[in-house]
Amino acid sequence: MTLPDADPTLFRLLLGRFASGVTVVTARDPAGHPVGMTATSFASVSLAPPLISVCVDQQAETHRALRAGGAFVVNFLAADQETLSRRFAALPSAERFVGLGHRFSPAGIPVLDGALAHLECECFAAHELGDHTLFVGRVTGGTAGDGRPLLYYSGRYSALAE
Ligand SMILES: Cc1cc2nc3c(=O)[nH]c(=O)nc-3n(C[C@H](O)[C@H](O)[C@H](O)COP(=O)(O)O)c2cc1C
Repeated sequence: MTLPDADPTLFRLLLGRFASGVTVVTARDPAGHPVGMTATSFASVSLAPPLISVCVDQQAETHRALRAGGAFVVNFLAADQETLSRRFAALPSAERFVGLGHRFSPAGIPVLDGALAHLECECFAAHELGDHTLFVGRVTGGTAGDGRPLLYYSGRYSALAE
């Protein structure tokens, strides 16, 4: 017997009880323009080879860039970067990098200033699952700084207690 899907409201409520860090996934679109979007669906996948994943809505503009394959970067946001999270979720994509401090990874992908860490990835696999695509990245490099992470829980931003 196949049970029906959970009610969408219940599904959202349940997912809201999972606390996560906040990332901005950056890449370049097929025309070479930097793109990026806020994502909390980050997960570690494998140690050897070093793999991570992020799940992206197939309607997202960033999806098109990731679907083309190649390199992308996952930026882990620091506790003081809530405005960056909002920017990469809400501003029109063409405006997201305007006036924003960033440098480029060896593969030419934007790395956001002030991020707690960044992971440089090569697309390893992409699986369409429902209305999202699970992108698996092979990690080729990155940097890790000190500081506190930005957290997301129950539809709100927060930070680790002291
Ligand atoms: C805290 C937070 C977490 C999010 N996590 C994801 C995610 O994991 N995957 C996703 O597809 N969208 C996620 N979103 C929504 C995207 O950031 C948003 O739809 C964005 O505008 C997509 O940009 P694009 O269409 O320019 O690619 C999240 C939004 C917020 C505020």
